[in-house]
This record gives sequence, C-alpha cells and structure tokens, in this order.
Amino acid sequence: MSYREKNRAAWNRLADGGSRFARAATDQECANPLGTLDSRGWLPDSVRGLNVLCLASGGGWQSILYASAGANVTVVDLSPSMLRLDEREASRRRLTVRLVETSMDDLSAVESASQDIVHQPVSTCYVPDLAAVYREVARVLRPGGLYISQHKTPTSLQITRRTRDNHYVVGVEYYHQGPLPAVDDTSYREDNATEHLHRWEQLVGGLCQTGFVIEDLVEPSRADRTAPVGDFRHRGRFVAPYVRIKARRQGDQPKQRQSIWTPD
Ligand SMILES: C[S@@+](CC[C@H](N)C(=O)[O-])C[C@H]1O[C@@H](n2cnc3c(N)ncnc32)[C@H](O)[C@@H]1O
Repeated sequence: MSYREKNRAAWNRLADGGSRFARAATDQECANPLGTLDSRGWLPDSVRGLNVLCLASGGGWQSILYASAGANVTVVDLSPSMLRLDEREASRRRLTVRLVETSMDDLSAVESASQDIVHQPVSTCYVPDLAAVYREVARVLRPGGLYISQHKTPTSLQITRRTRDNHYVVGVEYYHQGPLPAVDDTSYREDNATEHLHRWEQLVGGLCQTGFVIEDLVEPSRADRTAPVGDFRHRGRFVAPYVRIKARRQGDQPKQRQSIWTPD
C-alpha cells in the first residue's frame, strides 16, 4: 500500500472513531472565529472575502471557523471521512465550503495564485517529500499570500519509548529515510498512519528555498507539570512536539537596481 492509501485508511478510521483531531468548531468558537484560530495575531484583522485554503485540515474545525469569519474556503484532505465532517458542519451552519479530496503534494485541483491564505495544521509528517508540498503551496498562493503551517518537530518524531526512570529515548536516527518505524511511546503518533521525519533544514530552509520569507516561528507548548507520567503533556515537558511557522509568499524577484553612478 502507498503512503496515501495507508494514511487515508488510518484517518478514515480516526475520524469515524471520534479522534480529538476530528472535532468540529463549537458555537462559542464560531462566535470569535479569528480569535480562536489565531492567538498570535498572525492573520489580518478581517478575512472576509479572502480565499483561504485549509490544507490537510478536514474535520470541521479550521474550515468552519474561516467560513464563519466570511472567507471563501476550500478544504483539501486525503480522507473522505474527515471531509464529511466539514460538509456536515457547513450544511448545519448554512456555510459554504469547497471540498477537495486529494493529497497535499498534488494540488492540481486548485488554481495557481488563487489563494490569499493557506492554513495547514500538523500533517506534513504524512508525506515523504516536504518540498513537493511547499512547491504546491507556493504555486496556489498569490504573491504576498500568507502560509501558516504547523509540523511535528524532528526530535519528537525521533522518540521511541520512555525508560523505567522516565527518560525519553531518542531511538530514531536524525537522518532516517523512509517511513518511521512503529514505536512504543505513541503520545504524538497516530494509530496505523505512515509518518516521515522532516529535518529542520527541510522544514525551515525548504520554505526559504521555495520563495517564502519567514515572519515568525513559535513552538506551541504541550508541557504541563501536573500531568501524570505517560500523558502526552508529561512528554511535552521534555520535548517540544510542534513548531508553527508564519511565512509569506514573495512576489517576482525585484529587478536588479540600476546604478545611477556613471564613470565619467
Ligand atoms: C492532525 S489532522 C488535522 C486536522 C484537524 N482539523 C486539526 O484540527 O488539526 C491531519 C489531517 O491530515 C490529513 N492527511 C493525511 N495525509 C494527507 C495527505 N497526503 N494529503 C492531505 N491530507 C492528508 C488527514 O486526513 C487529517 O485530516
């Protein structure tokens, strides 16, 4: 089975089983959609009338919040079960969202330079080639468009288990190629999904190489000193699980400035 087939099946099962990542936006969240989506103030004051691509974000959270804020929303996801949740929520709230079932590394269904914002929750770990995703995002964003993405950190994906004295073991090599092995500590892994480690030079350098400028970068914390051993928030005290990046698509390269100095 290819990574797409495996991950489609895994996420269909997670969606149908009520995963915490398949939770639709609540009425309270929809009352302040931009505040809910964007605690850091990365979004413009209004997204009304903007084209927003919610990339690999089925489940009815991001799409419903952007649509509640007046954006023209397209949701891309590989899992029909996740997309059904967007469809169900949109129809319940009388909102319109366009659903596209495809893989994030093939956005041929989305027109070039058509999007003002691409918002991608944690999901690039499900594809082997991150550069292909960045190329597609750069293509569909208009120059000056915003790309907000969240990723699993490489170190978090290297953790394989917890020792008896509660140390977390970095058991996968940093330069590991191909699908990650199954691990004992699954706090930040999804059942039956095929995941890939992307290195920092690919996560951050890759954006710069694809024509983005990075405007901000944060590490959303999951650390909780009161969390019991074995809980994902206990592990979050030792290893940052996620990185969130704000990047902006650059326009055409500025023309070389002409010198006004002449030799004679
Ligand atoms: C962690 S969930 C994110 C969605 C969720 N709404 C949230 O609140 O974070 C990851 C999503 O990526 C999707 N996915 C996995 N592989 C994909 C691929 N190759 N292309 C597009 N979507 C993919 C899954 O179906 C799932 O909906």
